[in-house]
Amino acid sequence: MRLEKHLCLLGFMGSGKSTLGKMLAQRLGVSWVDTDQLVEAKQGESISDIVRLQGWDAFRAMEREVVLEIESHVPMVISCGGGFPLDQQNWQWITKHCTSIFLKVDQEVLLDRLAVNASNRPLIQEKNYFELTQFINEQLPKRALVYSKADLTIVANGAPERTLECIMQLI
Ligand code: S3P
Repeated sequence: MRLEKHLCLLGFMGSGKSTLGKMLAQRLGVSWVDTDQLVEAKQGESISDIVRLQGWDAFRAMEREVVLEIESHVPMVISCGGGFPLDQQNWQWITKHCTSIFLKVDQEVLLDRLAVNASNRPLIQEKNYFELTQFINEQLPKRALVYSKADLTIVANGAPERTLECIMQLI
């Protein structure tokens, strides 16, 4: 299959953007990048350290910057950090350069995944189980309003192999 534009995966932390991004790129025979990894590589620091030492505004500016450097690359799969599409400028970038796919995952599933995988995620790494539950319950509905504007929405509660097949049928 020949891609016309980048395919970008959007969704909450823990929705499987990186895992599925890699699988999808391999299946399509194109490159894969992850905005978090691009920022880390460019800064030579982890997301946690960037946020701790320079703050969220600086991190968000770095997210905006790294995608500008890849926009003219031949179409590939991009896994976007969970907060990336919330920025108006980033959303415009997505609509111009990408076909966007929202990986929609239920709160309970996100909680199960994030409870055991919060490291290098500064928004949640200090939270206990109760605080994490509250955070997801509060943030997911707000963020989903933006994610749902994506070109395609895929329910991604199950195994990544199954979600990948759903994506392949829709693109
Ligand atoms: C964030 C999600 C993270 C990372 C940063 C902020 C967010 O990426 O960009 O910690 O605001 O949701 P993942 O969604 O890949 O965990």
